[in-house]
Amino acid sequence: MLDDLDTIQREGLAELQAAGDADALEAWRIAYIGPKGKLRALMPRMKEVPREQKAAVGQRLNEVKGALESAFEEHKGATGAGAEAATPAVDMTEPGLIDTRHLGRRHIVSRVRAELVEVFARMGFDVAQGPELEDDEHNFVKLNIPPAHPARDPIDNFYVDDPKEVDGPRMLRSQTSTVQIRTMERIVAEGSGPPIKIVSPGRVYRPDTVDATHSFMFHQIEGLYIDRGVTMADLKTTLLQFARAYFGEDAQIRLRPSFFPFTEPSAEFDMMIALKPGEPPRWIELGGCGMVDPNVLQACGVDPEEWTGFAFGFGIERIAMGKYAIPDIRMLFENDVRFLERV
Ligand code: DAH
Repeated sequence: MLDDLDTIQREGLAELQAAGDADALEAWRIAYIGPKGKLRALMPRMKEVPREQKAAVGQRLNEVKGALESAFEEHKGATGAGAEAATPAVDMTEPGLIDTRHLGRRHIVSRVRAELVEVFARMGFDVAQGPELEDDEHNFVKLNIPPAHPARDPIDNFYVDDPKEVDGPRMLRSQTSTVQIRTMERIVAEGSGPPIKIVSPGRVYRPDTVDATHSFMFHQIEGLYIDRGVTMADLKTTLLQFARAYFGEDAQIRLRPSFFPFTEPSAEFDMMIALKPGEPPRWIELGGCGMVDPNVLQACGVDPEEWTGFAFGFGIERIAMGKYAIPDIRMLFENDVRFLERV
């Protein structure tokens, strides 16, 4: 046992001198003074040592252990390998301790709006704009909404001055259909059309009570296509192509007969959508559509004997909620950063 201890000390010190880098040093530590090293391997043999020699052998064992350990520490410092080994390796992919980079980006509604314009642009639709502060003529009269129509009730609209006044801005528009009128008037005045093929995204306002599906301000995208011989089949094809382009090839659409004063015939436009993740999809109403009523064409100076057209108006929030499985419209306006970072 004492011979073995001498051998371990001698060979150990010699090998330690030869260990030139951190890896070699670590290998040496494991081989000699680690918990599975040569020194430890001798321990069980202590019980074979005759009782009267136990003290001497134990003392020698401690000496060798001390010698090897201090030589190791010394050598580690001398080779500089220690400094390397003592510093934990830096993982360059870890985020910094204080991450202040909260990068902003466009709001989800703005992104969806731009995506919709892009999809319709590929089908040949230009973008048209109209004012948010509107008058009775464009929000109602020329859209074939008669004075007694319930949609004109002051309780359902944000009138901004005396509703009996005829000139000047009077209300926050309640629908983007106003832009149909403005666009037809402009194009007829310019003498540059029809044909007309536009979409118009923008804000609309209604004094609705806020809940999971209603907001007093939201966004619509309006479409108007006027040409010779446009039919309901063109409308349905356009809507189906839009749905497939934006929601994917297996998108399903449905038109339900309905009524709007500015279209005849009119329909509601539904899509199969799962509003909550994991829920089965169901029919969700995205907006209205139809063939532009001859009265509307006439009011804008477009001859309904020569031209026909279709129109549609969808809720952009509805589409965003459908596309990104957002269950509550209020999430789109609360501006909770945790939500905005997720969508
Ligand atoms: N303006 C209608 C609304 O806000 C939606 C609408 C229906 C627009 C039919 C249209 C249309 O262009 O043809 O409820």
